[in-house]
Amino acid sequence: MMKTISGIAAVAVAAIAFLAVQAPTAQTATQSLRVAQEFRDIENPAERSKALFGEMTKVITHPRCMNCHPRDDSPRQGMAMQMHNPPVIRHDESGFGAPGMRCTTCHGAENMRLVGVGGIKSIPGHDVWHLAPKSMGWIGLSPAEICTQLKDPARNGGRSLADIHEHMAEDGLVGWAWAPGEGREPAPGTQARFGKLVAAWIDTGAHCPTPPAAEAGGVSTGD
Ligand code: HEC
Ligand code: HEC
Repeated sequence: MMKTISGIAAVAVAAIAFLAVQAPTAQTATQSLRVAQEFRDIENPAERSKALFGEMTKVITHPRCMNCHPRDDSPRQGMAMQMHNPPVIRHDESGFGAPGMRCTTCHGAENMRLVGVGGIKSIPGHDVWHLAPKSMGWIGLSPAEICTQLKDPARNGGRSLADIHEHMAEDGLVGWAWAPGEGREPAPGTQARFGKLVAAWIDTGAHCPTPPAAEAGGVSTGD
C-alpha cells in the first residue's frame, strides 16, 4: 500500500519537476553580463573584439530588446517572443502603429502596474514607445548578421560607430530593458556595463563574429 502511494507521489513530483524545467523558455534564463576588463587577456585585438561582441549579444538578443526589433510588422511579447496580443501593426516606417491603434494608446510614458488582468502584471511604457524600423530588425538573424547590419549606415539610421555606442549606452528606450516593469525579466547586467562592452568592442575595431560553418552559404558575413 505504502509502495503504491509513494509510487504515485514520485510520479507527481517528477511531473512537477518536468513543468519547472519546461517553464522558463530555454535560451533566455537569467544571465549575468561580464565586464569589458574580463576580456583583456585575449591578446589579439580582432579576437578580443569578436569575444566582446559575443558578450554584447546576451543583451541584444534578449527578448526585452528583440520584441521591439522584428523584421516584420508586429512587435513580440514575453520571454517566448510570441506575437503581440492584441494584434497590432507597425503601420508605416515610423513604427507608431495604425491610426486609432497607436502604440501610445496603451503604452504610456512609464510602466503601468496592473492588478488582476489575465495574469499580466504591468503594461510596459516609456516615452516614444514604438517599433524599430524594419532595416533594424534582428529577429531570426544570427549574431554575425546582426553585427554587420548594426554597423551599416544604410540600415542603422545613418549612425556612426560613436552614434551606435551613444544609443546603446544612453538611449531611454534601450534603458527600459533593464527596468521593464513588474512581471518581466530585465536584460542581463546594467546599461552602464553594456555601454562599456560596446565601447571596448569599438576600440578593438568593432569586428563581427565569424559565422559558424553551419551558416556558411547564407548571407552572413563576418569581418
Ligand atoms: C490595445 C493595447 C496595446 C496597443 C495598441 C499596443 N500594445 Fe504593446 N502591449 C500591450 C500589453 C497589455 C502588453 C503586455 C503584455 C504582456 O506582458 O503579456 C504589451 C506588450 C508589448 C511588448 C512586450 C514587451 C516585452 O518585452 O515583453 C512590446 C515590445 C510592445 N507591446 C510593443 C508595442 C508596439 C510597438 C505597439 C505599436 C505598434 C504596441 N505595443 C501597441 C498592449 C498594447
Ligand atoms: C520599445 C521598443 C524598443 C525597445 C524595447 C528597444 N528598442 Fe532599440 N530601437 C527602437 C526604435 C524605435 C529604434 C529606432 C530609433 C531611431 O532610429 O531613432 C531603435 C534603434 C536601435 C538601435 C539603432 C541602430 C540599429 O541598427 O538598430 C540600436 C543599436 C538599438 N535600438 C538597440 C537596442 C537594444 C540593445 C535594446 C535592448 C537593450 C533595444 N534597442 C530595445 C525601439 C526599441
